Order: sequence, then C-alpha cells, then structure tokens
Amino acid sequence: MRLVIVSNRLPIVIERDENGWKSRAGSGGLVTAVAPVLQRVGGLWIGWPGSGCTDESELERMLVEHGQRVGYELKPVPMSQAEIEGFYQGFCNRIIWPLFHDLQSLCNFKPDYWTNYLSVRGKYAEIVGRHAQPDDFIWVHDYQLLGLGRCLRELGVTNRIGFFLHIPFPPPDIFCKLPWRLEILEGLLHNDIVGFQTPRDLENFLDCIRKLLPDVRRRQRRGVFRCVSDGRTTDFGVFPIGIDYARFAQDAADDAITRRVAELRRDIPGQQIVVGVDRLDYTKGIPDRLRALHLALTRYPELHRKVSLLQVVVPSRESVPEYQELKGRIEQLVAQINGEFTQPGWIPIHYVFRSLEWNELLAYYRAADVALITPLKDGMNLVAKEYCACQIEGNGVLILSEFAGAAVQLKHDAILVNPYDLDRVADAIRRGVLRTPKQRRPAMRRLRSAIQRQDVFWWVERFLSACGVAARCKGLPQAVKTLETGPLGATG
Ligand code: UDP
Ligand code: G6P
Repeated sequence: MRLVIVSNRLPIVIERDENGWKSRAGSGGLVTAVAPVLQRVGGLWIGWPGSGCTDESELERMLVEHGQRVGYELKPVPMSQAEIEGFYQGFCNRIIWPLFHDLQSLCNFKPDYWTNYLSVRGKYAEIVGRHAQPDDFIWVHDYQLLGLGRCLRELGVTNRIGFFLHIPFPPPDIFCKLPWRLEILEGLLHNDIVGFQTPRDLENFLDCIRKLLPDVRRRQRRGVFRCVSDGRTTDFGVFPIGIDYARFAQDAADDAITRRVAELRRDIPGQQIVVGVDRLDYTKGIPDRLRALHLALTRYPELHRKVSLLQVVVPSRESVPEYQELKGRIEQLVAQINGEFTQPGWIPIHYVFRSLEWNELLAYYRAADVALITPLKDGMNLVAKEYCACQIEGNGVLILSEFAGAAVQLKHDAILVNPYDLDRVADAIRRGVLRTPKQRRPAMRRLRSAIQRQDVFWWVERFLSACGVAARCKGLPQAVKTLETGPLGATG
C-alpha cells in the first residue's frame, strides 16, 4: 500500500529571487511532523508549491530533484493569483483559521471566498484522482482541505481516505457562525477516518454533529466514535501528533551544535535564556507574552540582568492584513521593553524575525534554560515537544499555555499558564527561572520520556491502525519503535 499525503502546501516552497528559482523548507508543524514519516515509508505528497511557480518545467525539475533527495514523490497543485487570494488568503486564512481558533472577530465571511474554496478543492480532487492508484491510502491534512474527501468521492475515487485536522475544532457556538457550516460538517462524513489532536476537539465536533446533523447515527467503541450517515461509515478519534524525537535528540548532541550552544552562552553571559519560537501568528499570543515579560521585569527587579528572552518569529502569511498588523505590534513592544530596561551588558529581548536553519534552531532549543510557549489556542504546538527533545542536559523548564493541545500530554510536568492571565505568566517566568536543577531534572526527564514514547511514528501507526491499514504500509512496522496499544483517545 502506498501512502499519498495531500496537504495545502508541499513540504517545500518554490520561489523566485534575483538569482532565479530556489526552494526552501516550508514552515509550520504539519511539514515538520509529516515529512519525516513520508521520508521513512516513501509515497507521494500532493500540494501547492508556493506562489510564483509559473515555469512548469523548472518546477518539475525542482520537485523531482527534491523527491530524489527525500525518497518520495512530489506532485504540484498550481494556484493562480486569484486562487491564492480567494482560497489561501481568503477562505483558509481569513475564515477557517481564525474561526477554528475561537477568534471569530477576525473572520471575513466573504461569499467569494467560499466560491474560490469550492473551485480550488475541485482542482485538488482532480489532481489526486489522476495520481491515485487503486491500493493507495489517501491521507488528507488540515483545515484548508476539510471537504476534499467528499469531492474525491464525487469523482468516483473509492480508495480509503483519512483526514487529520492539525488545528483545534471549535465548539458549536463558534462553529455555527460559519455560513457554510452544514457543507463543512457533512463533508467530513465522506472520509473513512477523521483524526483530531485532543479530546476537546473531538467533543466539540461531536457536539456540532448533535446540534446540526441530529439524524447521523453515532456509536462509540474503544474511544473511536463511528458515525453512520446515508449508508457511509466514518470513524472519529483522537490522535495527538508527535515529533521525530530521535532526530531532534540525536542532532542536538552534535558537535557543531554543542559549539554553537557554547557560543550562545558566551554571548548572553550570566543570564538564563528564555526561548520563544513561533510563526508570525495572532494565535501564538506573542504580544501578551511580551506584556507578561514586561510585568515580570517591572515587578521582580531581581530578574534584571538575569533573564533574556530569545524570541524567534518565523515570517508567515504576510499578505494577510492581520499578520502585517501583528508584526508591527510585536516590533513596537520589543522596542518599548528593550528601551525601558536595556543596560550595558544586558538586553532583555533578542528578537529574531526570520526562518532559522535546522542547526541554529536546535542550538537555541538546547541553550535555553526555559521555554515560554503561550499560544492563545493551538492544535498541538510542536515547538513545546521539540524544545524538550533538545534538552539533552535535562535542565530546561517548559512553561506552556493550557490552551495548547500539547498541554493534554505534558500538563503534569510543565508549568501550565493561562496566556490571558498576565499576572500568572509573569509569576511563571519568575518561578521557571528560579527553579533549581534538582527541581528541573525529574520533570524534564518525564517530559522527554513521554514525548519520545508518543513520537510521530507512534502517531502515524495509531492513525493507520485505526483505519485498518497500518500493517499494509510498507516500511511502517520498522519505523515504529514503540507501539502502545491503549484505547484511542486515552493518551497522555
Ligand atoms: N520552525 C520552522 N522554521 C523555523 C523555526 C521553527 O519551520 O525557523 C518549525 C518548528 O520546528 C515547528 C514548527 O515550525 O516544527 C511550528 O510548529 P507548531 O506546531 O509549534 O506551530 P504551527 O506553526 O504549526 O502553528
Ligand atoms: C500551521 C497549519 C499548517 C500550515 C502551517 C504554515 O502549521 O496547521 O496547515 O501549513 O501553519 O502555514 P502556511 O499558511 O504558510 O502554509
């Protein structure tokens, strides 16, 4: 059986600069998590290669070259500028993204966006249908392609189809604001299996089904909910995504990274490094985090010259107005806090606005004494897991928002915070920084062990097992190191 991954984006973005075409790694949790899986088991990845790729032969050459390097095939779904604006920037990132993160006030329910969504979804379905072989397992990912399963069925595709939502699913009060709520909900009932990150997301989804589609029959077995509608059966379950733990932990111990960590510590001497790594996104709570740091520095002068925040913001969706506005707000706060507190030999915030190379990212994770991860709402937040995996000395502290999906698995050993409660976040910063090695080590050991056990191969195995196809996926049994057989949905 071949695995066919379908996501809005391919794992690389192809762009043109003054020197010609070039490719770069895509950013975000979906790519980081799914790429190592496909690299291990092989298969096909179908998605959009990024904007500007109008030269078909150049595009083909770059995708083939990348495919040879990573061991799986890539097929592009090109998008016109109008489709990028209406579907990607509009429907995906000005409707579904904010709505599913409970930020309905940021939504723009423009009817044109829906029309664009329908036509781009049709295009994806047509391309997937063209490449799919009879025995393939088609695995569709994330909020941009919520209704693809339905479209594939309408085209006569009979393969097994799975869908995984990487972001949260909202409660009915919020979901019902969506003008096309019935179409979106019904669309999910055309897959064989649908996975969510946390029990909260599954419960929200089932509440929406109860409210909007009361005739759908439901039953539960070992944590999986089976819905039957119009003779079709779809299973719904919880499958918290993991990371390629072994790769992060091994690479973090590399000599080059050890040297880079020593350099970073030399450059920020005598201070605890607090790290934040986020895509530029209003769901990540970056302004509130900066305000909490300001409060901590105002309230606890003993932290002066003792704490530096290393805040990495990875550029993302800059053509969407809310993201441009956010960038300005973050930069203003950084300048204000640094202006107020900086002294010779101490800068409270080191602000990095760019995408980092792998080694640099791992060095930041390993060098940091504390990770401050405070999204307002997040499907999972892989940064939290990556930070712990790279803490090979075991001395780090994880401060984590209770609204990140990762909190379900990590809540006992992280310092959990409500990111809206700036007093408590400020207090958590102080507590985290003041924790002794004796307090830090057992908690970090348990965090690392949980993240190692439930890594990304464990996730993929559980998803494919629930769909009854894991054993037929070439390469997967070797890839899975730890196989837990607990009931689905009862992780953590
Ligand atoms: N990341 C990245 N480029 C960087 C820094 C980080 O692609 O310069 C990755 C990071 O390793 C992580 C992902 O971006 O895997 C962020 O995933 P997360 O689940 O935390 O949030 P998302 O961006 O998916 O909302
Ligand atoms: C999050 C989403 C992904 C998305 C990524 C990067 O991780 O869950 O679906 O690909 O952000 O966003 P972008 O809009 O650049 O694809």
